[in-house]
Amino acid sequence: MPGQLLAEITKKEKIASDIFRLTLQAPDIAAAARPGQFVMLRSGRSLDPLLSRPFSLHQVMADGQIQVLFKVIGEGTRRLAALEPGAQAGVVGPLGQGFSLEAPADNGRFCLIGGGMGIAPLFFLARELQRRQPAVPCDLFLGARTAREVSQLAEEFQLLGLKPQVATDDGSLGYGGLVPELLAISLANQDGPGLRVYCCGPWPMMAAVAAYCRQRAWECQVSLETMMACGISACLGCAVQGSAGGEDYLHVCKDGPVFAAEDIAWSRE
Ligand SMILES: Cc1cc2nc3c(=O)[nH]c(=O)nc-3n(C[C@H](O)[C@H](O)[C@H](O)COP(=O)(O)OP(=O)(O)OC[C@H]3O[C@@H](n4cnc5c(N)ncnc54)[C@H](O)[C@@H]3O)c2cc1C
Ligand code: FES
Repeated sequence: MPGQLLAEITKKEKIASDIFRLTLQAPDIAAAARPGQFVMLRSGRSLDPLLSRPFSLHQVMADGQIQVLFKVIGEGTRRLAALEPGAQAGVVGPLGQGFSLEAPADNGRFCLIGGGMGIAPLFFLARELQRRQPAVPCDLFLGARTAREVSQLAEEFQLLGLKPQVATDDGSLGYGGLVPELLAISLANQDGPGLRVYCCGPWPMMAAVAAYCRQRAWECQVSLETMMACGISACLGCAVQGSAGGEDYLHVCKDGPVFAAEDIAWSRE
């Protein structure tokens, strides 16, 4: 189990009024990280374990830096957003199980779907897929409440050579509506089973995407977000019901956060 290290913040970006991106110098985490894994992050040297919060690895750079992208929700994220370059943050990671990166079956394609801050892990994932599977085409769907939350991120994906299809709740950018609707419209004519879907976002969005993939016999991996007190399999506070029901509970911090969609009991949350 990785211990906590203190990492210097080298850059802070404001992506929208309440969305920030922090770059941290953390070579050991960068060297070991896989897309879909996360870190527990807290501001400064505080020893209060209740102030550590889980964040997906947003980007991992060759020079040993890592990035997290987050929205300010409550006390933990407010403290992180107040940090400036030169300050230190407590980091534990990389934690959990990441996405599987092998080529899809049947000469298929990849499809990345992110909603809200669920977009965060898709950058690292997209870059790794491009590096490992450069010949496999990759579709990308991004959902947000409004253009302000997603326009810069969509432009950054374009710089990676991807063509994001965007859905916004208020119609201010791209399709006006929900990502699963846009997915069904856009991929209606996509034949065959060879699509590997990677999805991260709010529970209802992932449940809808999982149901659609099941109908189409597409493989679907989801990255779940739950409340996490410890992040290291010590508190059992992150359990979700598995699809077998009964005693089948999965711990998001240890067994996930990435799961095969069919392993989750979507209707019980
Ligand atoms: C594996 C994992 C990866 C994550 N990656 C990211 C990321 O890349 N970017 C990002 O912005 N966020 C991410 N999150 C969510 C992030 O951890 C929470 O937003 C953060 O912990 C909120 O902390 P806070 O102290 O600001 O708010 P708190 O004071 O802890 O919470 C404020 C309110 O939000 C609710 N809440 C907090 N966290 C969650 C949650 N996960 N699900 C539902 N309700 C919640 C609380 O019940 C409370 O009502 C991730 C979560 C997990 C489990
Ligand atoms: S967060 Fe404590 S066991 Fe998963």
